[in-house]
Formats: sequence, structure tokens, C-alpha cells
Amino acid sequence: MIYYFSGSGNSRHVAKLLARESGQELFSLNKFFKDKCRFRKGRDLIECSEPLPLPDDKNQVLVFVHPTYGWRQPRLLTSFLAANARQLKHRKLYFVATAGSGFGGSEKYLLRLCRDVGAEYMGLATILMPENYTAMFAIPDEPEADRLIQAGEARAQEAAAAIRAGSKLLPDPGLCKRPFLLSTVVNPLFYKFIVKSRAFYADDRCDSCRVCQLICPLNCISMETDENGDLRPHWSDNCTHCMACINHCPRQAIEYGRASHNKRRYFI
Ligand SMILES: Cc1cc2nc3c(=O)[nH]c(=O)nc-3n(C[C@H](O)[C@H](O)[C@H](O)COP(=O)(O)O)c2cc1C
Repeated sequence: MIYYFSGSGNSRHVAKLLARESGQELFSLNKFFKDKCRFRKGRDLIECSEPLPLPDDKNQVLVFVHPTYGWRQPRLLTSFLAANARQLKHRKLYFVATAGSGFGGSEKYLLRLCRDVGAEYMGLATILMPENYTAMFAIPDEPEADRLIQAGEARAQEAAAAIRAGSKLLPDPGLCKRPFLLSTVVNPLFYKFIVKSRAFYADDRCDSCRVCQLICPLNCISMETDENGDLRPHWSDNCTHCMACINHCPRQAIEYGRASHNKRRYFI
């Protein structure tokens, strides 16, 4: 079974390719989170109305495809998998992470997660894809994004072959630089000081279409009437900065303070 969480579609794109190559079923954690779960500030799971659906065959491998947030797997994924420890015990877990530039010490935290839930760690594939963090960084232009996607697809093919063969996945050491500084020191600071929703707003280009509300995997957007009587999105503080809303807005009406001004939007 191939599970994915994805803000702008990079991880979903890779997950689809893996599912096609391996003939395995694809499972959207975005939909599961949206329909069944509640998170505190987009990080720690509060509750899900159902456990994670797993294949009956305990020998079937589970593959988790996800973006990299602050040089580790997203914290919401960590807390979600930890909450499903009972079902994941003794299962074989592969991880396929996408990122815009590097993975730091991601592997250490995936190993720790597997140890904590009693699962067998089958390795991590590190796949560079276009940067999607519109609130922080520049997004590559279209030719560069296409080049990255093509190279990412080739890496995903390699990962699919390894998973089919039951071999361990190995992260690219060239993409895992400064693990302690980035993943251990910076990651908690990133969540404490950067991952906040209050800078999001929709400007006059917004036509109240609700795409942002529908696409938000954590249900943190509600539509509220502003002082001019217009229906506008409003962000609650359980946002995890997945960037789905800002990148999918059909009118590019969503901004993150001034940081996103004049930046390209991206989704695949
Ligand atoms: C909140 C946030 C944090 C990110 N942190 C990192 C990072 O630490 N290292 C990196 O190379 N890319 C980082 N990125 C970029 C994404 O990991 C990358 O673009 C990923 O492929 C997006 O996948 P998705 O479209 O499936 O969400 C970050 C993006 C977001 C939104």
C-alpha cells in the first residue's frame, strides 16, 4: 500500500508513479486527515475517528511518501503514525521523501519513529522536486520545475524497483548535509517560530470560490464575511504550512504577509 501526504502534489506525483510501477494501492492521507482526523496546530494528532486502514497481509510492505518540513518528515505524520503504533507493529515501512533542496538528518527521525512504533525500517529514498514553500522561498520557474520533476521521476523509478525487490532504500548522502544543525537544532525552532497561520490572507482577487477551503487537508480554512460583506477565507491556527491553499488558488489571491508577493505559485 502506498500512502501519501502532499501539499502541492510533488509527493502525490511520486506516490502515483510508485503505485503504478508496483501495482500497489494508493491511499491519500490528505483525504483521511481531512475526513477523519483533528490535529493541534497542524502538528500533533488530537484524534482520528478510525485507525489507519492497512492491508490484511502483514507481510505486505507499507510505503509512506511525504514532503520534507524543516529537514524531517512532517510532524503531523510522526504524531499520526505514532498514534497508530499498535497496527504498525512488526510491519515493514518504507519512506519516500520529497524536498526542494535537502533532507538534513531526516533518516535518524524515521528510524526513531519505526523503533517507537515497533515497525521494521526499510529505508528512505530522497527525491528532489520543485520547492513549494511559497511563504519562505522562491519557487523555480517552469523549465527548471519540469527538469526537477523529470529527474525526480527517474529517482522514483529506482525506488520502485528497490521496493519491488524488497531491498532497503538508501538516502542520497549528498542531499543529507548538516543533519544535526538542520534537523535537530533548527527543526524545533522552525515549528515554534515559523509555522503559524496568522500571516495568510486573501486579497481583492479572491472570488470566494472555496478551493482553498476544499483543498486544505487539515480543515483549517473557514469562509467568513469580512467588513465589506465579502466572503473570504480565514485560517485557524491548526495550519501546518503545507502550502496547498496558496499554491492552488485559481486567482492567486492568497498571500502570506509580504513574503509571497510576486512569487510564482506551483502545484503538480
Ligand atoms: C513547511 C515546509 C517546509 C519545508 N522544508 C523543507 C526542508 O527542510 N528542506 C527542503 O529541501 N525542502 C523543504 N520544503 C520543500 C518541500 O519539502 C518540497 O517542495 C516538497 O517536494 C513538497 O511536496 P508536496 O508538494 O508533496 O507537499 C518545505 C516546504 C514546506 C511547505
